[in-house]
Amino acid sequence: MERETIIALDFASGKEALNFLDIFQDEEEKPFVKIGMELFYAEGPEIVREIKRRGHKIFLDLKLHDIPNTVGKTMKVLSDLDVDIVNLHAAGGRRMMEEALKGLQREDGSRPLLIAVTQLTSTSPEMLHEQLLIPASIEETIVSYAKNARQSGLDGVVCSPLESGMVKEACGEDFLTVTPGVRFADSSKDDQVRITTPAKARELGSDFIVVGRPITQSNDPVSAYKYCQSEFKG
Ligand code: C5P
Repeated sequence: MERETIIALDFASGKEALNFLDIFQDEEEKPFVKIGMELFYAEGPEIVREIKRRGHKIFLDLKLHDIPNTVGKTMKVLSDLDVDIVNLHAAGGRRMMEEALKGLQREDGSRPLLIAVTQLTSTSPEMLHEQLLIPASIEETIVSYAKNARQSGLDGVVCSPLESGMVKEACGEDFLTVTPGVRFADSSKDDQVRITTPAKARELGSDFIVVGRPITQSNDPVSAYKYCQSEFKG
């Protein structure tokens, strides 16, 4: 699988997202983009269709988590939108992940890649122990959730680039790691805490990096994207 930069389209409206993508209109290769909950819930499935029509690959980041039957049927709806990657919370368990995978299968045999969120980076050890009553460490739960995802037939997980190594050690080199928290050496960290550069993410084994503000807020997003791609692809 080719390593790719995925641009996080964290915009509040379709208009803003499409205005941003207009900048890439003359580029031969359209960037892979991530559509999250904010944009999807504001605009609905039509924004996914429009961005797909423009030639972009899409990671639809809706992080599903519900009973297996509901997640399976919803994944069928998302698969019909012709997206390339979708995700869910591994905390929903193996049955839920298996049903999700079945729901994604298209009649022609293809399906989007399915990746799992293990622990959100906003989850602290205190929250895990005191609110969720889970005695294990964050790292132990990440490895265990990733193994459950692998056993359920999923393609990979979303994690920090710094966790790619331990996930691949537990689940195999071909198990994909999709990693946010990437910053250029000279740019602001924003609210990200544990960050790596695109080149470092490649060294650590990331298969996809998800990059938002360093590209979307740049004065020259096309150059920022190209720089990111060349650093990450090596
Ligand atoms: O602007 P920035 O590069 O920080 O955006 C990173 C993207 O990755 C955002 O869409 C954010 O929600 C997402 N993300 C993250 N950390 C996680 C999971 C997702 O930054 N642990």
